[in-house]
Amino acid sequence: EARHGAGRGRLVAVAALLLPVVVLLSWCRGVAAQPTPPCGDGDLAALRGFSAGLDAPVDGWPAVADDDEDGCCAWPGVVCGRPGVVGVVLPNQTLRGEVAASLAGLTALRMLNLSGNALRGALPPGLLRLRRLEVLDVSSNALAGAIGPELELPAARVFNVSYNAFNGSHPVLPGAVNLMAYDASGNGFEGPVD
Ligand SMILES: *[C@@H]1O[C@H](CO)[C@@H](O)[C@H](O)[C@H]1NC(C)=O
Ligand SMILES: *[C@@H]1O[C@H](CO)[C@@H](O)[C@H](O)[C@H]1NC(C)=O
Ligand SMILES: *[C@@H]1O[C@H](CO)[C@@H](O)[C@H](O)[C@H]1NC(C)=O
Ligand SMILES: *[C@@H]1O[C@H](CO)[C@@H](O)[C@H](O)[C@H]1NC(C)=O
Repeated sequence: EARHGAGRGRLVAVAALLLPVVVLLSWCRGVAAQPTPPCGDGDLAALRGFSAGLDAPVDGWPAVADDDEDGCCAWPGVVCGRPGVVGVVLPNQTLRGEVAASLAGLTALRMLNLSGNALRGALPPGLLRLRRLEVLDVSSNALAGAIGPELELPAARVFNVSYNAFNGSHPVLPGAVNLMAYDASGNGFEGPVD
């Protein structure tokens, strides 16, 4: 009887030890399994504006009238993070047309890759002032105009505007202390690279 009691005691002790571990594990799993947040109204409007500004909407992005419950986070090329849309990655998608100013409404954006499309016109000034943008790759398009003093990307690591039709003076990125790659080749820029 005593041996039996001791055994049960040990079992209870082990269970008591394991319980917090099990609780912690399931809590962790719950946190990890949380679905990505639906994109906010601001991000949704920014992306819809971008798609609508093109000659044809982005492939796989629902038409404006459609109501989809996942919001933009499930759209091809859209990456969501905790604060909202953090990436728009649409290289080589045969996107044609102008880059809508609305895209600058993605205030949490860290990565924009629109390389290898047929985008034309100027880059909207607001896009060149996104505080959190780390990667800007619009290389190999038909973008034009100057990239002037409005350029202010303090978080920039990669800045690639190569192979477009930009002109004016070479773009400078003051305060971009983490800049690792800068490519402005294949354009009509003039003057020194600073
Ligand atoms: C953008 O996408 C292209 C095509 O996938 C890729 O080659 C390029 O490295 C990307 N740019 C950056 C800065 O990641
Ligand atoms: C994008 O297109 C370029 C030029 O046609 C090609 O070199 C590159 O491999 C393509 N990248 C992808 C990811 O398709
Ligand atoms: C840049 O190109 C545009 C046409 O895209 C032209 O109107 C403008 O005068 C050019 N600017 C410079 C500084 O060459
Ligand atoms: C910039 O993009 C071009 C064309 O996509 C690519 O060939 C080049 O390697 C890139 N430059 C840098 C510094 O990554």
